[in-house]
Amino acid sequence: MYSWDELIEECRNCTRCDLCKTRTNVVVGRGSISAVLMLIGEGPGRQEDEQGLPFVGAAGKLLDSLLNALRIKEDMYYIANIVKCRPPSNRVPREEEAQKCLPYLRTQVRLINPKIIVCLGATAIKYIIDKDAKITQIRGQWFKKQQFWIMPTFHPAALLRDESKKTYMWEDFKKVRQKLDEILNA
Ligand code: URA
Repeated sequence: MYSWDELIEECRNCTRCDLCKTRTNVVVGRGSISAVLMLIGEGPGRQEDEQGLPFVGAAGKLLDSLLNALRIKEDMYYIANIVKCRPPSNRVPREEEAQKCLPYLRTQVRLINPKIIVCLGATAIKYIIDKDAKITQIRGQWFKKQQFWIMPTFHPAALLRDESKKTYMWEDFKKVRQKLDEILNA
């Protein structure tokens, strides 16, 4: 059983995988620790590694504008990643790295106890929903696991590469906004 302080301390000192050798900062998460909504990405990029905060680079700016447009305020969400240290050259985290890091994320989910979890991109979908799922087939559909409503959608960085995904991500986040309203008004 961890407290937040213990979790953060353990993450900061973590040497469970080799990503610790190249990181500048461990990126634990940001946002409200009593959030209804949790957003989960892949892993820190260069700016996140430098600042020790998730989604502060270009993909993060895009995500912020989407959340703002839907009136999803900072005190309503918490954002974290599958791995807490930057993979060199932003490569996809290796299976072993993800498996060693996932217990930290599970602890964060347990401490926050959100109602909704949004998986941003294929890596989050792989480790949270289904290792064989195809993002294009399952995005935009609700999954219920334990007490959590889980929505898979694209990673905001994918939108930076392919504008056509914007409409889909917008549709998916509108469903998240609707579910939030249902929960908050219940
Ligand atoms: N991409 C991610 O998956 N996470 C971040 O924190 C930043 C970019």
